[in-house]
Amino acid sequence: MKQATMARLYHSFLCLLVVLGASIPFFPIAKATTIAGCSKAESDALLTFKDGVIDPANRLSSWQGQVDCCRWSGVVCQNISSYVHVVELNLEDDDYFNYQTALSGQLLNPSLLSLTYLSRLNLSGNDFGWTQIPQSVGSFSSLRYLDLSWTNFGGRIPAQLGNLSTLLYLDLSSYWSFSATNFVLYSQVDSMEWLKQLTSLRYLNMNAVNLNAASHEWLQAVNMLHSLEALHLPNCDLAMVPSSLSFVNLTALEILDLSANLFMSTLPTWLWEFSSLSYLDLESNEFYGLVPAAVGNLTSLDTLILGENNLDGGTISASITHLIHLNTFDFSYNNMSGGVPDWLMLMTNLTHLDLSFCSMKGLFPVEIGSLSNLVYLDLSSNSLQGTVSELHLANLTTLETLYLSNNSLSILINEEWNTTMKLKHIGFSSCNLGPHFPRWLQRQRSIVSLDLSNASIKAALPDWLWSSWPALGALDISHNNISGSLPQSLEGMEELQIIMASSNMLQGVVPTWPSSMRILDLSSNSLSGSLPTTSAAEHLSFLLLANNQINGSMPSYFCNMTYLYYIDISNNQIEGEIPPCWNSSELIFMRLSNNNLSGSIPSSAMSQNLRYLNLNNNSLSGELPPSLQNCSLLTVLDLGENKLSGNIPIWIGVSLQELSILRLRSNTLSGSIPPQLAQLSNLHIVDLSNNQLLGLIPSSFGNFSAMISTSKYITVPRLFGIQSFPKFIFRPTVSITLSAKGQELGYSTSALDLVKSIDLSSNDLTGKIPQELGALVALQTLNLSRNKLQDRIPDMFAGIRYLETLDLSFNNLSGAIPESLSRLSMINHLNLSYNNLSGRIPSSNQLQTLDDPYIYAGNAYLCGPPVSNNCSATAVVDREAMDYGSELASLYVGCLVGFLVGLSGVFILLCRKSWRYYYFETIDKYYHSFRVNQWRFPSCNQHR
Ligand SMILES: *[C@@H]1O[C@H](CO)[C@@H](O)[C@H](O)[C@H]1NC(C)=O
Ligand SMILES: *[C@@H]1O[C@H](CO)[C@@H](O)[C@H](O)[C@H]1NC(C)=O
Ligand SMILES: *[C@@H]1O[C@H](CO)[C@@H](O)[C@H](O)[C@H]1NC(C)=O
Ligand SMILES: *[C@@H]1O[C@H](CO)[C@@H](O)[C@H](O)[C@H]1NC(C)=O
Ligand SMILES: *[C@@H]1O[C@H](CO)[C@@H](O)[C@H](O)[C@H]1NC(C)=O
Repeated sequence: MKQATMARLYHSFLCLLVVLGASIPFFPIAKATTIAGCSKAESDALLTFKDGVIDPANRLSSWQGQVDCCRWSGVVCQNISSYVHVVELNLEDDDYFNYQTALSGQLLNPSLLSLTYLSRLNLSGNDFGWTQIPQSVGSFSSLRYLDLSWTNFGGRIPAQLGNLSTLLYLDLSSYWSFSATNFVLYSQVDSMEWLKQLTSLRYLNMNAVNLNAASHEWLQAVNMLHSLEALHLPNCDLAMVPSSLSFVNLTALEILDLSANLFMSTLPTWLWEFSSLSYLDLESNEFYGLVPAAVGNLTSLDTLILGENNLDGGTISASITHLIHLNTFDFSYNNMSGGVPDWLMLMTNLTHLDLSFCSMKGLFPVEIGSLSNLVYLDLSSNSLQGTVSELHLANLTTLETLYLSNNSLSILINEEWNTTMKLKHIGFSSCNLGPHFPRWLQRQRSIVSLDLSNASIKAALPDWLWSSWPALGALDISHNNISGSLPQSLEGMEELQIIMASSNMLQGVVPTWPSSMRILDLSSNSLSGSLPTTSAAEHLSFLLLANNQINGSMPSYFCNMTYLYYIDISNNQIEGEIPPCWNSSELIFMRLSNNNLSGSIPSSAMSQNLRYLNLNNNSLSGELPPSLQNCSLLTVLDLGENKLSGNIPIWIGVSLQELSILRLRSNTLSGSIPPQLAQLSNLHIVDLSNNQLLGLIPSSFGNFSAMISTSKYITVPRLFGIQSFPKFIFRPTVSITLSAKGQELGYSTSALDLVKSIDLSSNDLTGKIPQELGALVALQTLNLSRNKLQDRIPDMFAGIRYLETLDLSFNNLSGAIPESLSRLSMINHLNLSYNNLSGRIPSSNQLQTLDDPYIYAGNAYLCGPPVSNNCSATAVVDREAMDYGSELASLYVGCLVGFLVGLSGVFILLCRKSWRYYYFETIDKYYHSFRVNQWRFPSCNQHR
């Protein structure tokens, strides 16, 4: 059970973008006060609570009956009218993803109700095991502070929470996760009526609770909470926002976070009446239209985040300059097509400015110098032109972050430029910097992250690179023409977490990396030699060395790589065994293809989190490891071109329910094809060709739902990165060779989502081609060639409307070519050669374009064009075939529905721009720099 929880939770943290951004629990770690004399009743109540929870890490070990309960960890007492009472229980587990430390079981034990003075209860980070918050929560009526954030509750939020009428603080932030086509929220409300009763509430956070059902009433409910100071409702699937409100009650509101919802409207007018607002975040919705002059009414604002909407900023009037306290303005991913606006230069108090992805045209303005307090400037991904020289930057002496990537800018800065500016983060990707390495950067000693990718640098890697920046954490020099070699060892660089240097001309060996290293990407260079013999392995999460000439074996330190999520060392000359001790429980992506690996596939390497496993084109032998059946998240399994033997296990079709791509071609697999494969509802590529498979093609193969529906299946996450350097992301490349259109074609990442293919060629399959295959409307490639299939070709092709490639050659098929084949309007590759087919070759517009007589070769009794036999006497008319088409009409309606449903899932994905990164982070804390919540609840400390 715990395993399932973990898998699911892991799932959640795959896409930890906004997740933990919303609030930081500010509870001080409670220490037992020294007041003696917790009453027996209260002590007993706590011991009953302890009995009801599972505490694997023994966090409650200090809870012993003979000790005063005020000394127990997490228990805070207070002297109330000369009696000592338990007033606070702080059992927060701040190690959010470590299930070894979470309490589970009966976390809201009714025994706690005996603690009549309990006013603060913090269970954050513990584990409800995806059960509902019990309705009995409503009995804790003396609570003023309740924190149930990140506790894995699921299902309905109980309306009984409304009974906690003295509540000042309520945090119900939850995890969310990502499925193949959709984002998943685990808890929801039917209504928000209950909220209206919490009239004392000053802080409310319901991050990632599905409030969609309350879309029509949420604002009305929230508007009753006239004391509210902070409202966090991000990721809540809220779809409606009234554009006006007759009476704005929330005069105390200081923090409003409605980011990542589904609002699609103009900015509502009531927003401009929250006169106390200091923090407004509407990021990642679909707000459109103009930003009105009324924004100038929010004179207390210090942070305004409007990014990732469809707003038009071209008309933001100078009234925004009334916001004299504004220091953070984020208008990224909107439209500012008029260029850098004039009013911006008046906002001299700005410290953080993000206008990335705003379609801004024009020159990089020299006037930017008036924003002399800037610390953070992001103008990346616009259409800015011209040059950036030291003249532009001279006044920005406090600047620490400068992102200008993806513009048409030339960075022309004098090598000798002396500046007091101390840049820490620099992004010049796709700017014109070259051909030399910019020397002025050498004197920027504070650099922490530097992105010079695709910057037209054509030079050797300078030596000073590795000695100039003691704090360097992330370096991207990929996609240049950089030659030379990396130092043998980078161990001296103790802060270095990321090196991305792919697609250059680097030579030499892979350096020994320091223990801080998280992402090492040296793919597509000319590296040679073997992998470093020793390397600090503990923290490495992403290792990408594909497309080099690395040889030797996989060193034993792979066995210590406990945080490895992603490895791609494909297309090298690595030999020997996959280390049998490899036990990377976090691994989600393993690509070792096109090497010389031998031996069996070690069971231990099959992590439960594995989603992508590509070991093709090696010399691996033995059977498929049974441990693979624990990989329930596996979406791509490619073990083709090896020496694997044994049967195709039945459990593939039972346990690997997420599988999209199954490729086992060119091994020596035997036995029959398990019909259970058709139970895999996402499977859209099946390649079992060139094995020794026997028996029938299962008729269940007509049930592959992913080949019936034309929707896309997103098989591979698009972006990976780590939270500490969110701008340093890489796109996993996945490529698979399939035979289609009569040749071997390579398909890569996004193209794969659309491919629907079955290849069972070159086996020993017998019997008839199952008529049921006719249901696979969306199938594009069907290759059954080089088997021993018999009998006539079923007349089912009217159903397979999208079929482009059909190869039935080299079988024992007989009878006439069915008429329905001529209705395949998409077909562009057909091969029916070397069978015993007879009769007239059907004709249609599409078939006539396929006029290569070889298509029909080796069938002596076929007649009519394009073969030379003419059909004098024996045209075969096949009655049976004619009836079949109408049956398929009804099936077709069902498929259309499937298509639309599937498509809406993709749409949600596309419109949630915030969820574009998948962060992998287990070590660091998840605090989003922009979203630090400054709201403070008066602490108990003050009363002690
Ligand atoms: C404003 O809040 C008070 C107290 O919660 C409530 O009684 C009143 O109905 C609210 N007014 C509106 C218009 O919602
Ligand atoms: C802006 O503030 C003024 C003065 O407080 C007020 O009269 C006006 O209605 C406000 N505008 C909006 C759109 O809220
Ligand atoms: C900058 O902030 C100061 C202090 O809050 C304020 O007095 C001043 O008017 C502001 N300047 C601008 C241009 O907003
Ligand atoms: C530089 O900043 C100062 C204020 O710190 C300002 O007066 C001056 O105009 C700025 N210069 C440029 C070129 O923007
Ligand atoms: C920068 O400073 C160095 C030494 O401090 C000096 O030699 C050099 O001329 C200066 N460069 C410029 C452009 O002023």
